[in-house]
Amino acid sequence: MPQLDFSNRVAIVTGAGGGLGRAYAHDLAARGAALLINDLGTTMDGAGQSASFADSVAEEIRAAGGRAIANYDSVASREGGAAIVEAALGAFGRVDVLVNSAGTIRNMPFANSTDADIEHLIGVHLLGAINVAQPAINVMRASGYGRIVFITSGAGLFGGPGQSLYGAAKTGLIGLMNCIALENKDAGVTVNAVAPIALTRMAGQRKPDGVPSTNTMMDRMRDVFGASTEPEFVAPLVTYLASEACTSTAGIYSAAGGKFSRIFLGLTPGWRGPRNKPARAEDVLSHFEEIESAEGYKVPRSLKEELDIAMNG
Ligand code: NAI
Repeated sequence: MPQLDFSNRVAIVTGAGGGLGRAYAHDLAARGAALLINDLGTTMDGAGQSASFADSVAEEIRAAGGRAIANYDSVASREGGAAIVEAALGAFGRVDVLVNSAGTIRNMPFANSTDADIEHLIGVHLLGAINVAQPAINVMRASGYGRIVFITSGAGLFGGPGQSLYGAAKTGLIGLMNCIALENKDAGVTVNAVAPIALTRMAGQRKPDGVPSTNTMMDRMRDVFGASTEPEFVAPLVTYLASEACTSTAGIYSAAGGKFSRIFLGLTPGWRGPRNKPARAEDVLSHFEEIESAEGYKVPRSLKEELDIAMNG
């Protein structure tokens, strides 16, 4: 089996001062990558900041013989994103890999969310990814090589009550990924996304009153998965997607309890109305079962492919 080697590679992992990001950083560093360990050092809901998160992981990597520097900028600002990429360039001279793991969580029913919650969650997760990916991709395009891994979430892809803003931001990343992936297909840059599940401090957060709890599910997961709820069980997928060996792009993958799967959006064969006049809502009603049926679905990999299927399928 070929070894995935990162000896000449420089990786930025945001939110690498704890939880899942720390595990991604360790696996990349152990394979020879030089690491920029970014972390603002906040509480789970985004309060405060501390250099100790990034410092401790950078120190762990150096103590194990690896190369790492710490960075404390927030991904949530344009200046922070630019500073993160500049710091990696300044220390190591290139940027080959970007893993966007920085994140916070605030659970609440959508009806109760405040302006501050909206600004914060969209700011950290969606704008946070844009803020770092844009300067990074310019560096990657110039060198003709890059690997970006966005960390998304089943909360948005499949739905998680109480997580509307978080889920919206996390699924916004998928639109971002799909378009960046196509734009950079011939530039040596791949962009993929991972929806992880691991019992970090974030996953253990209790839901407020009025929001159905997933804590029973978490307890069950702990029983069934045992040690495989640890972040190290997600890292192999991120490392593979960050490696030269991975040439596929615009994929969404799940990593949960040691199991790896692909997640995709599909088009059902559907029902076609007349071409010479619009169908009526009543026609949609009478064909809704056919429209819904997933049997024989297709998976378009671009808007163009969706149109091709619609025209010919
Ligand atoms: P975590 O709370 O342990 O780690 C997140 C890190 O991001 C923290 O160290 C925090 O200080 C840092 N951070 C927060 N805001 C930042 C900012 N503005 N700039 C830079 N750093 C910032 O949580 P965990 O579980 O490791 O989550 C990592 C990523 O995985 C997050 O994006 C999360 O949304 C996502 N995720 C986690 C799941 C899980 O099961 N743990 C499930 C689905 C997605």
